[in-house]
Amino acid sequence: MAFFKVISGAALAVALAAPALAQDMNAVQARQGQFKLYGHNLAVLGGMAQGRMDYDAEMAQTAADNMFHLTRHDQSRLWPEGTDSSAIMETRAKAEIWENLDDFTAKFVALQEATAALQGVAGNGLDALRPAVGAMGATCGACHEVYREES
Ligand code: HEC
Repeated sequence: MAFFKVISGAALAVALAAPALAQDMNAVQARQGQFKLYGHNLAVLGGMAQGRMDYDAEMAQTAADNMFHLTRHDQSRLWPEGTDSSAIMETRAKAEIWENLDDFTAKFVALQEATAALQGVAGNGLDALRPAVGAMGATCGACHEVYREES
């Protein structure tokens, strides 16, 4: 009997190690893609806010507009249950997201609000841009701190 237990244990281990469903991997890659676009725009906004790039009102406004629209992308199909880092190697999304969905959503809404404020002032000069970029960046960090694995 013990022999059969060993066999079934081995079969279970194989099942657990099975590759993620294609649709789940697609959602993981899509959400990582959206975050890459956030980073791509933050490079401009943060670069100007921190003095690594000259302030350019048009570039700042475009990047802020992008952030506003990117953060309006509907999230409902990007976070299927079971696509956390304990189940899928390629993701840094912690399982805690699905245990605290209200808080996770609130942190996303905070980002949306910060991008709306940023969009309103990005073209109005460096002194207006700087605090709005800082406020937006804080919303990124607040979520990563709790819900994203260290790389
Ligand atoms: C509500 C939570 C939340 C907010 C707000 C948030 N992130 Fe993330 N971010 C995550 C999670 C979770 C991951 C891991 C996703 C994964 O690997 O599946 C991530 C991943 C990333 C990545 C890595 C993407 C990759 O290539 O794998 C970047 C870059 C990133 N975020 C940038 C940002 C920036 C910039 C902001 C703010 C403008 C931001 N994020 C706001 C939760 C958030």
